[in-house]
Amino acid sequence: MKIVTIVGARPQFIKAAPVSRVLRRQHREVLVHTGQHYDRAMSDVFFAELAIPRPDYELGIGSGSHGQQTGQMLMRIEEVLQAEQPDWALVYGDTNSTLAGALAAAKLGIRVAHVEAGLRSFNRSMPEEHNRVLTDHCADLLLCPTQTAVDLLAAEGVTRGVHLVGDVMYDAARQFAEVAAARSTILADLGLSSGGYALATLHRPYNTDDPARLRVVLAALNRLGLPVIFPVHPRTRARLAELGGADCAAAADGAAAGLRCVDPVGYMDMLALEQNARLILTDSGGVQKEAYFFAVPCVTLRPETEWVETVQAGWNRLAWGDAELVLAAARGPWPDGAPPPVFGDGYAAERIAALLHTQGG
Ligand code: UD1
Ligand code: UDP
Repeated sequence: MKIVTIVGARPQFIKAAPVSRVLRRQHREVLVHTGQHYDRAMSDVFFAELAIPRPDYELGIGSGSHGQQTGQMLMRIEEVLQAEQPDWALVYGDTNSTLAGALAAAKLGIRVAHVEAGLRSFNRSMPEEHNRVLTDHCADLLLCPTQTAVDLLAAEGVTRGVHLVGDVMYDAARQFAEVAAARSTILADLGLSSGGYALATLHRPYNTDDPARLRVVLAALNRLGLPVIFPVHPRTRARLAELGGADCAAAADGAAAGLRCVDPVGYMDMLALEQNARLILTDSGGVQKEAYFFAVPCVTLRPETEWVETVQAGWNRLAWGDAELVLAAARGPWPDGAPPPVFGDGYAAERIAALLHTQGG
């Protein structure tokens, strides 16, 4: 069986790694990198660390407006699919690369498998919400990470081809957490002690592209009362520079701060930083989940989350408003013990490969 996998953005490299490894034991996988993310720290580093095979096609689309970026991807992916004639097009998550891959395949009559199907924020101002709804509605195989995702699809009338497989990010975290703990030197490099700092990430346009909102978040991070390691996404770096200097503490009104901006880090360093953080503050989908996997309290800097189980279990608190609100959320209270295992058993990739095989004939 031949599968064309389409990836393009940082979290997709991480999601694809465990699946790709299992798929290639039995099937031919053709890997397409759209080039949505292209900086070394946003792309190459993950291929090297997670031993992801070199892409067969590097489309090099790069950044652009939504229509321009998605449209160019659509054209180029269509050419690849026509040349390869796969049994499946496999897409991940909810980025523009996901939608372009799904749409190009669906229009050619090539079956689409969507990993991380059924996620919803119900916030239509997020580009991801459009991408995931549209992708789910043209997918033939909907591979859900949680029971909530299965239920949300059923509420939209989508039940055919829907399977609960677990979360591939849990597979990846389970496979790499120990390697990261053994190999990463990031704590020593940054002079950090386990439990002695918070970790923050931020890249949602509604947090970064509104200067007033960005200032509120930075002010909150600066007032946490402990060092905050902030690996800065390139979108955010550009907005910080506009706010008042390349230095992010300066952008946060020059507060003396605990806020330490660093370049985006590789996956091993990120896992090490997450596992040893006292608290994580983020608007990232993946980082919220990883906080939960490692039983690290998380404050989500958003009005809502797709990963409702993490909030229901008490390990994740939503904070959308002024700095006081963020600081109050950061104070907890937080649960004890291990979070309930709602993301599967770490073998989602095996289930996905088996379903592609059995449904692919
Ligand atoms: C994209 C996804 C988002 C995902 C995120 C993961 C969409 C609509 N958004 O958001 O769902 O959560 O990736 O990180 O698909 N840039 C660089 N170098 C890079 C990549 C981007 O400098 O390697 C800068 C460019 O200025 C670009 C901006 O970041 O315009 C935004 O990049 P883009 O891929 O459009 O969206 P993200 O915010 O990364
Ligand atoms: N990540 C990383 N280095 C960083 C920031 C994030 O390796 O500097 C990883 C993180 O561990 C998670 C994934 O990237 O696995 C999340 O991607 P991102 O936050 O860009 O996107 P989202 O999950 O919100 O779509």
